[in-house]
Amino acid sequence: MTDTAKDFITINPSGAITGEFSVPPDKSVSHRAAMLAALAEGTSVIDNYLMSGDCISTLECLKGLGADIQTDGNRVTIKGRGRESLREPSDVLDAGNSGTTIRLLSGILASLPFTTFITGDGSLRKRPVKRVMTPLTLMGAQFLARQDVFPPMAVKGTRLKGIEYTLPVASAQIKSAILLAALGADGETAIHEPAESRDHTERMFRALGQDIRKEGNTIRIKGGTPIPSFSTRIPGDVSSASFLITAAIMVPGSHITINNVGINPTRMGFVDTLIKMGADITIHSKGENTLGEPEGDIEVKHSSLNAVETGGSDIPLLIDEIPLLAVIAAGAEGKTTVRDAAELRIKESDRIAAIAENMAAMGIKMEEHKEGFSIEGPQKFQGGTINPHSDHRIAMAFAIAALTASTPTKITDPNCTKISFPGFWEMVGGK
Ligand code: S3P
Repeated sequence: MTDTAKDFITINPSGAITGEFSVPPDKSVSHRAAMLAALAEGTSVIDNYLMSGDCISTLECLKGLGADIQTDGNRVTIKGRGRESLREPSDVLDAGNSGTTIRLLSGILASLPFTTFITGDGSLRKRPVKRVMTPLTLMGAQFLARQDVFPPMAVKGTRLKGIEYTLPVASAQIKSAILLAALGADGETAIHEPAESRDHTERMFRALGQDIRKEGNTIRIKGGTPIPSFSTRIPGDVSSASFLITAAIMVPGSHITINNVGINPTRMGFVDTLIKMGADITIHSKGENTLGEPEGDIEVKHSSLNAVETGGSDIPLLIDEIPLLAVIAAGAEGKTTVRDAAELRIKESDRIAAIAENMAAMGIKMEEHKEGFSIEGPQKFQGGTINPHSDHRIAMAFAIAALTASTPTKITDPNCTKISFPGFWEMVGGK
């Protein structure tokens, strides 16, 4: 069935999954490519842009700032005239459900000489923007936000100055907001990361000739270098591929290849963890795209897995895949424990609570912790009714669990998957 406004979708247990697949374009890379093209001098062409709810929100916000953007299918053409060409929006910008849009855009807005109001949907308005307001205020911008923490937010930008800043959490969104602000700031900005997080912004800056260096856990950047226009093709999203990877591992007899997926090492934490658990996964590398993003094909065969313990610096590298790790853990031999994942409580839903609630709905026992969970396997999923709490990754993770369940499963609010994975329900045979 196609993505619709249906109240629920039914997923039936699946037979072996075989063949070649492709997945939607990378969400993180799409957001960043659009923002940089709007700041660039000249016409940039982005092929295979993710036309999903979140990445459309980024295009709409950039249009609200006066960016000249044309779309034709998955091709986005942006005629940039430098940061100075962006204008004060005449209305409130809407980041929809997208934390990446509101947080990364804050870095750009902080450096523009006008005031912007930005908000989002009910879920986004519960997620903190204070985490970007703090460093950007130190750089010279002014902010107002609901309860000083949540959207809606007003940003009064200015000419910024470089700062030295230690991130309180390993977050690519906070890091990228500061990096985007630093592009337009006087002097050098130094960012100390407590642990490595996805580095798409750094790779793009390097590919586009920016003065950026990494020394251990510190990133140094000097602003003021114009951004040249570029042409690029966005690779497939490894976070979306992870749903298929999990299905192939769990359903006996499966053997699949997912073609042209981004295999940036800072996004491969889930695949690396699965390999540690005993998964039969082979990566066929195919080199880098024009923005420095490595790409390849991922081949996966059904495998029996052992439990794993994960936490600390592993977490930012698999943060979006933890709902899937929970699903995998239920089928693995032994006790899997996830620690240090408090960030999950402030994603599109409280993902730790949503995992616990929906595991119970499918007959799986688990321990919920403040900053993670433990699951003792192997346990067998039973069909149930899933409440995704409007969170795309919860809906899709439990749809994959449903493929392995003893009876059919109902997923309520299925439309939430449009945020990152248009076409997901067709791919898993939802009815
Ligand atoms: C993202 C960073 C992550 C991730 C989100 C996308 C990005 O958030 O969860 O889906 O594109 O920078 P944090 O960096 O806040 O953990």
